Amino acid sequence: MIKKYLFLALIVLITLRLSAQEWVAPAEEAVKLSPFAFNDSTRKVGADLYNTNCKSCHGDPGKNNVINLVPVPPDIASVKMQTNTDGSIHFKLIQGKGTMPSFKNTISSGDLWRVISYIRSYNEKYVQVIDTKTGIAGTSASNVKILVSWIKDKNQVQMLISGMKESKVQPVAGAEAKLFAKRYFGNLLIDEARNTDAQGKALFNFPKDLPGDSAGFVQLVAKLSDEAAFGEAKADTTLAIGVPTYRPPLNEQRAMWNVVQKTPIWLLLAYTFTVLAVWGFIFYVLMQIRAIYIAGSRKEDEPLN
Ligand code: HEC
Repeated sequence: MIKKYLFLALIVLITLRLSAQEWVAPAEEAVKLSPFAFNDSTRKVGADLYNTNCKSCHGDPGKNNVINLVPVPPDIASVKMQTNTDGSIHFKLIQGKGTMPSFKNTISSGDLWRVISYIRSYNEKYVQVIDTKTGIAGTSASNVKILVSWIKDKNQVQMLISGMKESKVQPVAGAEAKLFAKRYFGNLLIDEARNTDAQGKALFNFPKDLPGDSAGFVQLVAKLSDEAAFGEAKADTTLAIGVPTYRPPLNEQRAMWNVVQKTPIWLLLAYTFTVLAVWGFIFYVLMQIRAIYIAGSRKEDEPLN
């Protein structure tokens, strides 16, 4: 009997423990800071993102009309939400937990910081601390230039990004950059998205076995992810860093986009015959309709032929 009660007590304890479990971000994530300053434009983008991705569960800020889930999604204006550091919110958005989805693949890191800037607009006491390592106020810059070069001994492609800020050419720090190699169809992402450092530099590990053209040339496309801040900043570069590969032109072998000379004769005949047959049939039907029309307009007393 006593055993049974002890067992029940244990179950109750475990349940209480589980439901009381807080969602805590790891320390090294919790100290992360936004690479750019929050301002009206980041808050506006953040508000749009919040309304499309979060509002259905977290409700209108400050209204506590959250969706009925266990555990409840906290209102973004609540103390529970606002006691999170910027880094821990960023981590939780990337990670997800239970019914709270992960936004790792749907919202870029820069846009997650913008959502956070919107969340912070419901906290009067909040004072932003910007990442001093990247040390910039606001990522936006105009006339962005991207310089792509090859670091041979490290097998890395380097991007150097600068732009006009406060009417001076300055490195663009803390911006998410992506490198692509042009393929037949679309672009292939090289390495992963990287953030530029204080010098506006980002390094991408280049695979040793990527096929280039017959001379090993690879066409690279360098891009900044954040179009809202930089416009369509982009640089095309061709570097001889691929494995020389002979790639036959798309119409060398028989293929859909080929010219008529390479069509097998049976296909050409079958096609011509089918087209003629279809048109012939349409013509036959039209002639039959015409015959019916002529027969119908004949006078009653007119003799048959
Ligand atoms: C499908 C519903 C759903 C959506 C959509 C959703 N959340 Fe959540 N969110 C939850 C739930 C449920 C929790 C509580 C999770 C827990 O504590 O186990 C939560 C927790 C959180 C937390 C952690 C709060 C804490 O306890 O520290 C943050 C931050 C957060 N959400 C932000 C967002 C943002 C920003 C978005 C949109 C980009 C979003 N959520 C979209 C359901 C959702």
